[in-house]
This record gives sequence, structure tokens and C-alpha cells, in this order.
Amino acid sequence: MSQRRMHLATAIANGFGSSPYAWTDPRVDPADWTDVRAWMRYAQIAERGKLDFIFFGDFLAQSQRAESHSPSQSLEPAVLATALALATERIGFVNTVSATFEEPYNIARVLKSLDVVSGGRIGWNAVTTSAPPAAANYGRDVVDRETRYALIDEVIQAVQALWGSWGEDAWIADKESRRFTDLSKIAPVNFRGGFVATRGPLEVPPSKQGQPIMSHSGAGPQSLALAGRHADILITEVFTIDEARQHRAIMRQAAAAAGRNPDAVKYLVGVQPSTADTGAAALARRGELVEPDVPQQVHYLGQLIGLRLGPADLDAPLSPEQLAIARAHPGDSRSYRALEIAREGWTVRQVLHHAVIDYHPAPIGRPEVIADHMQEWFDADAADGFWVTPDIHVDGMAAFVDGVVPILQQRGLFRDEYEGETLRDHLGIDRQYGPRYV
Ligand SMILES: Cc1cc2nc3c(=O)[nH]c(=O)nc-3n(C[C@H](O)[C@H](O)[C@H](O)COP(=O)(O)O)c2cc1C
Repeated sequence: MSQRRMHLATAIANGFGSSPYAWTDPRVDPADWTDVRAWMRYAQIAERGKLDFIFFGDFLAQSQRAESHSPSQSLEPAVLATALALATERIGFVNTVSATFEEPYNIARVLKSLDVVSGGRIGWNAVTTSAPPAAANYGRDVVDRETRYALIDEVIQAVQALWGSWGEDAWIADKESRRFTDLSKIAPVNFRGGFVATRGPLEVPPSKQGQPIMSHSGAGPQSLALAGRHADILITEVFTIDEARQHRAIMRQAAAAAGRNPDAVKYLVGVQPSTADTGAAALARRGELVEPDVPQQVHYLGQLIGLRLGPADLDAPLSPEQLAIARAHPGDSRSYRALEIAREGWTVRQVLHHAVIDYHPAPIGRPEVIADHMQEWFDADAADGFWVTPDIHVDGMAAFVDGVVPILQQRGLFRDEYEGETLRDHLGIDRQYGPRYV
């Protein structure tokens, strides 16, 4: 009997790692930010680990928050993915392109071209960008959520219609009869929605996997509904197993309501690990990366657990009186983990060193600790897989691939080898060519 296997992805993001201070590590070359050769090295390490794909976010605006932080993103993702595709053979690439700002024809053309060039290893992460600085870069205002989700639904349908407009068997290339294509199999789509329109056809032939797979990123109810209807994978942000189980179940219900097999949509959660040979070394490593932000984070930690905390509280554990009144903040689920760590008796500074205020759960410890975290979520049906961003890539990417992945493989939780060649194969997604709904 085949065991359910997890899917794994990573993000090279800015070339440095998930910590905004990764670039300051003595071993890191700050030029890696835009040095595609460094990116190729990381992509090859990820491929050595048989990961499903490398994820590219795209926020369409300046991403650097402080002079001491590196930006959180790098060059334009389609350009980077093209370079990385040529430096690898199996690993996939999931590229974010905003449905809020980009036109269906451009999205369809760039991503299907990339899918052809990469040999069928591309996914489109369709997002509903809502950031005012991104809107300003397109000379627009931010539109309300309802409109953004109605728009993305249409954009996805238009893009997929364009992808299917060049028939799968249209390319004859018969020199004898002088027929390059069968033009009867290449037809306009004449898509006309309330927001976008495109005629087509799109002159890009099928890729090895037909067309890119569909991804969506988000965590709200609209995202879960959209993923159920359109996505092959949902890439999300969630901090507790309970919340993840609830969200995954809602997404699966939405898939069933749309007439799809719920198993066809994979729910992928983030993990930002720090690993070392001992738990203490791993905590020291992460602590060093968190330390510059501790003075700001301490106030926020106080809000998370219902206490007034400031810099004067940093070097002592919470007192029994403080612990007696501390409460997790229901509006921010990171607070449960923060409180759990505080109750273990660490100083407030050490609580922060556990990266309790970060973008994703941050298991810290020996490789087994990272694998245990992932297995716990996976076995609890809280995730179908993970996108893993190490704290500092320079050694963290290999530490994950050579330290954590073998443990997952030994436990039968992750593949030993790629079984297929395309991203669709890696993710176990049925063939789709053209729109899902007609
Ligand atoms: C894990 C994750 C990754 C995301 N990546 C991007 C991205 O790369 N670019 C982007 O514009 N938005 C990104 N988003 C934002 C969402 O598309 C969405 O705009 C945001 O979550 C706001 O939610 P709303 O659209 O439901 O209001 C991401 C969201 C999550 C949870």
C-alpha cells in the first residue's frame, strides 16, 4: 500500500535566507542578492533534495523595510526562473504573478513560454495583490477585496483559455505536405468578462506538462474558496495545527462543492527552520539573527500575551504573577506558541530568540526537531506539504536537504527520487489543458 507522501518546496527569495539579517553573516557575499550563480547553486541543492519546487513571491514594490535589512525579494521572477530552469533538470518553479495588476494575455504568454522552456516545470501562483505601494506602481488605487477576488476568478479563466487555445495536436511540422500546423486546431478564445477581455489565440504550443499548474497564496476565507475552485496548490501562512486543519478542511469542501476531488488540491504551509548539531547551537544561531529586532519585538510580544513588556523585562523569565495573568491573543495565533515558550521558563529575550514573532512557524533545533515538526503537522492532516525557507541559505539550504530530508525519507514521508519529469508529475496533479470550467 502506498503511503501518503508530503510535498516540499523552498524559496530562495532574496538570495540570503528568511532572516532580514542573513546577508550580514560573515560567510555570505552581499552580491548574492542579484548573483544568479548563487541562485543556481541553491536551486541545485534543492534539486539534490528532490524538492517539488522553488517558490517565487512577487510584491511589485520596494520590499526593504530598514537600512540594516536586505530586501525580501530580488530580480523579476520570470527572468530568474528561466535562468534556474536551465541550471536544473527536475525541480519545478512556482512564480507569483499578480492577477490584480497584470493582463491575462501577458500572464499566459510569459508563463506558458517558461513552461515550454523548462520542460513542463512551471506553476502560476495567482495572487490578489492588495498593497498600496504596488497599486501606486501601476498608477492605480487599491480595490476592495470582493472586486479583487471577482477579478482573479476571471483572470484565471482567461489565462487558462489562452493556454488551451493552441491545440495539443496542432503542431504537425510535416515538410512533405508543407504544413507547419493544423490551423483548424488553433482558435481564438474570444473571452469577454466583466473586467478583462482577450481574443487569442496565444501562439505558444503545449509544454511537456501541457500548461503550468495553478497555485494561489493567501490565508483568508476568499483564498480558501478560490483555491478550492481553481488551484492545484494553496501556499499559505498559518501558525497552529488546529487553524491549519480548519482551513484545509474549508478549502477541501470548496473543492468538493466545485465538483473536484478534494485530494487534488494540496495545502502547503510555511516553515522557517534553524538547525544545528545541538538544540543550544540552533537557538544561538537563530537568536543572533533575531537580536537586532528584540527592542521592537518585546513590546509586540507583550501585546501577544496580554502583558506590558519593555526592554527592562528582557533578561528575566516571566514572574509567576505575570504568568498567572498572561493570555494568548485570539487575533494573532502566534501568541499560543509565544506563551508556550514563555511558560517553559526562558527569559523574555530567549522567548524572542525562538522566533515567535516571524512570518511562519520556526522549528529550531537538531534536524530531527525540524522533521518532527513537519511530521506532526502532516500526520494531523494540517498540511499536505511545506514550503521551507532556511534562516541563512549559505549553509541552511544544505542543512535542510542533507539533514532533514533524509529523515523524512527514512520515515517514508518523502520521495527518495523524482518519479516523473514535470511539476505536474511531482505534485501528482491530473493533466489539464485549457480552462478547468467551460
Ligand atoms: C504565504 C503567502 C504568500 C503571498 N505571496 C504574495 C506575493 O508574492 N505577492 C503578492 O502580491 N501577494 C502575496 N500574498 C498576498 C495575497 O495574495 C493577498 O493579497 C493577501 O493575503 C491579502 O489578502 P486578501 O487579498 O484576501 O485581502 C501572499 C499571501 C500569503 C499568505
